[in-house]
Amino acid sequence: PDDSQEGEKRRVAEAAALLVEDGMLVGLGTGSTVAYLLPALARRQLDIRCVSTSPQTEAAAAALGLAVGPFGSIVRFDIAIDGADQVTPDGWLVKGGGAAHTREKIVAATSDRFVVIADSSKAVDVLRAPIPVELLAFGLDSTLRRLGSTRLRDVPPSPDGGVIADFFGAIDDPAVTARFLRDTAGLVEHGIFPPELSTDIILATGSGVVHRT
Ligand code: A5P
Repeated sequence: PDDSQEGEKRRVAEAAALLVEDGMLVGLGTGSTVAYLLPALARRQLDIRCVSTSPQTEAAAAALGLAVGPFGSIVRFDIAIDGADQVTPDGWLVKGGGAAHTREKIVAATSDRFVVIADSSKAVDVLRAPIPVELLAFGLDSTLRRLGSTRLRDVPPSPDGGVIADFFGAIDDPAVTARFLRDTAGLVEHGIFPPELSTDIILATGSGVVHRT
């Protein structure tokens, strides 16, 4: 088996693609691992409808012939599949390395099943900074001051107009950090995903994949 990082991404993406069935409403994540999911899904030629978490995924999915449409009035996806930057043994995630975490969290929270796909480099014992954050442009300097150690990212605003930054504060307890970020006025969304958001984690282990539910 191909035990390179790209090989690992391909394997976890292909394993996740097999969980999708005809008739499903599917949320598509963002990133280099999801880039392997899209062709694997397209090859299956299923009758599915997809909603994307970023313009990049939307363009790539549409180019492969997947039916991608607007979120619109959808209130439930059957399944969503997405990558992660960090995954702990007890299922805490950091997402947003690609700045799409706000839309990704909304899609994850809307899905009956949320499947995380990650190569072995994403496995960590505990979550560490940086934590991606999306901030409102209104009152930005005051929000940054409330947050403390934060660095603005040199990237365009999110599709929803948010400013993307990274939070570098210490993380002793991810639940406490998540609450602090959530309670900071001006913060739209942060990249800490609690364990209860994911139903499945498919992690590459070099030669194979481990599927935790
Ligand atoms: C996008 O904002 C992120 O949440 C990605 O899902 C995450 O960064 C994983 O990306 P890779 O699959 O490229 O590692």
